[in-house]
Amino acid sequence: MLVQALADASGALWLAPIDASQRQSYIGCNRLQAACDERETEPMTSTLLPTTPESLLPLVLQAMSRTPDARLRQLMAALTTHLHQFVLETRVTEAEFERAVAFLVGIGQATGETKNEVILASDLLGVSTLVAMLNNPPSPNQIGTSESHAALLGPFWRQHAPRCAAGDNIARGDTAGTPLDVNGTVYDAAGQPLAGALVDVWQASPVGLYENQDESQPDMNLRGCFTTDAQGRYRLRSVHPAGYPVPTDGPCGELLQAQLRHPYRPAHLHFMVSAPGHRVLITQVFADDAETLHSDPVFGVTAPLVGHFERVQRDGQELALLTHDFHLLPGEPVFPHPPIP
Ligand code: BEZ
Ligand code: FE
Repeated sequence: MLVQALADASGALWLAPIDASQRQSYIGCNRLQAACDERETEPMTSTLLPTTPESLLPLVLQAMSRTPDARLRQLMAALTTHLHQFVLETRVTEAEFERAVAFLVGIGQATGETKNEVILASDLLGVSTLVAMLNNPPSPNQIGTSESHAALLGPFWRQHAPRCAAGDNIARGDTAGTPLDVNGTVYDAAGQPLAGALVDVWQASPVGLYENQDESQPDMNLRGCFTTDAQGRYRLRSVHPAGYPVPTDGPCGELLQAQLRHPYRPAHLHFMVSAPGHRVLITQVFADDAETLHSDPVFGVTAPLVGHFERVQRDGQELALLTHDFHLLPGEPVFPHPPIP
């Protein structure tokens, strides 16, 4: 049987048997017509049809090879190659393929106003942390560290946290818990303090829930945006965060269970630090005494992100103190899209 390569509207090539009457129906756009005409004098033979599972990949890669966007072409070729290799290596069955499709549909359906299950899936596979590490090498003046000082964004960052004055308490309403004082300095890559940098902080409550997950908390509770002073310093008050489970009510929870993995993140604070002319640093600081520090289900803990939450007594009351500095790299500040509104 003779076949020819046809291009669809997106420019992808595909193989089809030549049939003169059928051909008329393909004609609809000039590119398609040109592809047909070009191939008619040089018909492909059935050797270009897949004959074995292994022979399919080159055909798929060829079909995608004219993608005008070079980066999209590279990413899709690599992704497709790895996917084909994965399916061949593990001999994926039809039932397993159906299950995988159901999982992908499920994470889309479980994503909504208060939760982004797609990001969660990427977090649980370690991919979010991998992307953060790869794109955020340590700043040159962070002597002695080779680990990234960035961490995954997570699914709970909200834009437009209330602007706060130095020393403000982000625990609004009657959030009970051990009081926490946090302070530090934001530096540039030359080690100079950065005045006017923004330190956006968010955290879960002492019962382990973000305000958007918990109707008993006021809107924007435990979220705030601070500006560094002339010496690059920031200072805030809050309550000691608790470890908490990542959401387990969707397909990701089922996956964790099937893998005998626990869902508990170690207690942490989230930060997004930014300044004009600098890359946005998205990071987290983990309590050094957190129970699951070495088994974070989303693999976000690196050594420089472990903070010492010192316990002290003040006026007869226990208080936790954390000092943590941030180092920004030069570049364009690009903010992420908020995973939830
Ligand atoms: C968080 O820390 O907010 C988080 C990160 C990844 C998955 C779930 C929660
Ligand atoms: Fe968190």
